[in-house]
Amino acid sequence: MPPVITSIADLKALHRRRTPRMFYDYCDSGSWTEQTYRENTTDFEKLRFRQRVAVDMSGRSLASTMLGRPVAMPVALAPIGSLGMQSADGEIKAARAAARFGVPFTLSTMSICSIEDVAEAVPEAPFWFQLYVMQDEEFVDRIIERARAARCSALVLTLDLQILGQRHKDLKNGLSAPPKITARNAWDFARRWRWSMEMARTRRRTFRNIVGHAKDVGDLRSLMSWTNEQFDPRLDWGKVARIRDRWGGPFVLKGILDPEDARLAVEAGADAIVVSNHGGRQLDGALSSIRMLPSIVRAVKGRTEIWLDSGIRSGQDVLKALALGADATMIGRAYVHGLGAMGEAGVTRALEVIAREMDVTMALIGRRRVAEVGRDVLLVPRDFEGEWAENA
Ligand SMILES: Cc1cc2nc3c(=O)[nH]c(=O)nc-3n(C[C@H](O)[C@H](O)[C@H](O)COP(=O)(O)O)c2cc1C
Repeated sequence: MPPVITSIADLKALHRRRTPRMFYDYCDSGSWTEQTYRENTTDFEKLRFRQRVAVDMSGRSLASTMLGRPVAMPVALAPIGSLGMQSADGEIKAARAAARFGVPFTLSTMSICSIEDVAEAVPEAPFWFQLYVMQDEEFVDRIIERARAARCSALVLTLDLQILGQRHKDLKNGLSAPPKITARNAWDFARRWRWSMEMARTRRRTFRNIVGHAKDVGDLRSLMSWTNEQFDPRLDWGKVARIRDRWGGPFVLKGILDPEDARLAVEAGADAIVVSNHGGRQLDGALSSIRMLPSIVRAVKGRTEIWLDSGIRSGQDVLKALALGADATMIGRAYVHGLGAMGEAGVTRALEVIAREMDVTMALIGRRRVAEVGRDVLLVPRDFEGEWAENA
């Protein structure tokens, strides 16, 4: 009997069973002590809804816009490196599920399927491209051109990963793409026979945006060594402006967690910012995105679109972010669990779960449109922003 999936937690459990440990752990981990990773989700739990009754709840809609374009709900798929290792051709599967559902998909620089692979396989909807800035400017300029040629409709520049946060599990598991099969992990791969068979059938098993496109990179083994060698530690606001001008289209800055950086991002011409701590994978000890959101909203609301990611595991979390002032959200692990559990159908299932949770919650808090979801739908603990807000 096929498993009955009613929540993102169900997809997570199935992901864990069906995907080799190295790749499941890569998804389900944060840096160092994982404090920020944990608080990203537990801080959402501190926010509570006000139950409202006898409000006409008919004709509800989740429809919204992101970057001025209509979306079925204000939830985009965040860029995820190595998606094609969670499930064969994972980027294509996720892009297709997003296109069919009517939400944007963001392709990572560190994807397995290339920009061209996704554009060819999913011609029906433009996707967004996420850029990491490399030291090799020629490579950066060329990949921007490739994104333009593939009709990507926005560039998402990630600012919070010029050096890689340490995740203990990845080092211990010897994470790489393609994976190295060793005496220690051979049984783990053999048990995941469905994953292994699908992976054997695809030719897309390494970072195809990079291999064959970057100088002297013919065979890229490790995400970690590539990041440490190639990511540009001199990235600053001047370089951000250069990339904005080079791209010339809708421009999103991702990884903003401080009101001062939010102001600088607006000055740099961001059409949207993503309030994000990279899902707790970079600066351990940073505050959760949802806790930092109100101070960022106070700093830049109305001057750029404000999106939030990190910790969203349900439609209720999406509504909490909107209530605290976000215009939209991105999800990471919530859909990666779907992909690792059931491929394209699992990504669709994750989106359906979130949409359903949003819809039912909106009915029970007495709101029919996402634009009507304001702070007054929540009960916010007095100390939610904490003493930290004073510094911001
Ligand atoms: C496995 C994994 C890989 C990621 N790879 C990238 C990436 O290549 N580029 C990027 O900008 N963010 C990357 N992120 C961060 C996500 O885009 C997003 O900010 C984060 O997943 C949001 O947190 P959530 O997973 O709790 O929803 C990655 C996150 C995960 C979990």
